[in-house]
Amino acid sequence: MKLTISVIKADIGSVGGHTKPSARMMAAVEGEVAKAIDNGLLIDGFVRHTGDDIAIIMTHTRGEGSSEVHQFAWKTFLAATAVAKTSGLYGAGQDLLVDAPSGNVRGAGPGVAELSFDHSLSGARPAESFMVFAADKCGPGAYNLPLYLAFADPMYCAGLMLPPMIKGFRFHIIDMDNTAGDSVIELDAPADGYHIAALLRDNERFGIDRIVSKTYDEVAVAVSAQRLHSIAGKYTGKDDPVAIVRNQGIFAAPEEIISPFVKAHFVGGDARGSHVMPLMPVPLNTPVTGMYCLPIVSCVGFSIDRDGKFSESYADFFDNLAWDEVRQRAQRKAIEMRSQGWSGAAMLPYSELEYGGFRDTVSGLLKRFRLREESEPQAAE
Ligand code: 13P
Ligand code: 13P
Ligand code: MG
Ligand code: MG
Ligand code: MG
Ligand code: MG
Repeated sequence: MKLTISVIKADIGSVGGHTKPSARMMAAVEGEVAKAIDNGLLIDGFVRHTGDDIAIIMTHTRGEGSSEVHQFAWKTFLAATAVAKTSGLYGAGQDLLVDAPSGNVRGAGPGVAELSFDHSLSGARPAESFMVFAADKCGPGAYNLPLYLAFADPMYCAGLMLPPMIKGFRFHIIDMDNTAGDSVIELDAPADGYHIAALLRDNERFGIDRIVSKTYDEVAVAVSAQRLHSIAGKYTGKDDPVAIVRNQGIFAAPEEIISPFVKAHFVGGDARGSHVMPLMPVPLNTPVTGMYCLPIVSCVGFSIDRDGKFSESYADFFDNLAWDEVRQRAQRKAIEMRSQGWSGAAMLPYSELEYGGFRDTVSGLLKRFRLREESEPQAAE
């Protein structure tokens, strides 16, 4: 069977500020997902939140960009928005940027990552397992560095030296500044590794869209690379990307995929979407309540049975003592960076300052600048 994994996520309201969705919102989404499984739209579904973003992880046979699946997600988010409004929650419906998208919701606000494969549990994939990353309070290219390291650098993924992976992976990289449509370049690692790095270093403009095995022509990774402000024309919250990563066998093993997150690398995000702060790995359903508004990322892993259903239990990858060490280090990095407040590299440059108000403040001042009048040089007596 041709199986599709779709992850569609949105920030549609949160409790006590931008922390987490309410239990009633989560229950509303879970209820809709259960109904969609019952009526055969979905094979399976799983709901979790990371900070104030709710992600619906689904399997089905309707293909990528299916209007039925996308409309289901949209209507489910509308139902949870209604709950958020009733409870007076912050930012109710924040990521639902258009009135009623027809069909596909990509470009309408929710983040979408989808990939499809022949699910026969034979040949190159005798077992199917995958992970889903979900980040909050951060920019769209937050996975650029960790996914590059996992799929292009044997210092992180020694498995790249093994026969199934030694021909490398094809990176599809999207130019998120191009508002005319999805503008994508395909570059091969390791051959084009430096070109890939030259693009991916810019987390705000270029993002990994997908990664495909060169040997098997099987998709390994799909990311929701988009910029909300390009859709809305103004700041409407951070992009908070999600990513699907298939693992094991012909792909990297889970530890090869998560070990780059040990860096707690700096990304754009945090308070008002305008700072440069470390990405902290956290367990599922973690609220954003730390001393700043740290960018966070969660990671859940599933296996898939013959019928396309998720394993009855899942792995919460960052819910582990080993990651406490990384969380502490992320916090220390955050304290260091924030100690220089608004100065220089601690905040995003003007071109990226997400909060419209910051730009308005500077634009207002720019109007008041005047060229200094040169005074005539005094003749020597
Ligand atoms: P969200 O996109 O999670 O709402 O983040 C908004 C923000 O600006 C944090 O201050
Ligand atoms: P196990 O023996 O636990 O399956 O370990 C396999 C492995 O190679 C880890 O990547
Ligand atoms: Mg929010
Ligand atoms: Mg969010
Ligand atoms: Mg957001
Ligand atoms: Mg084993």
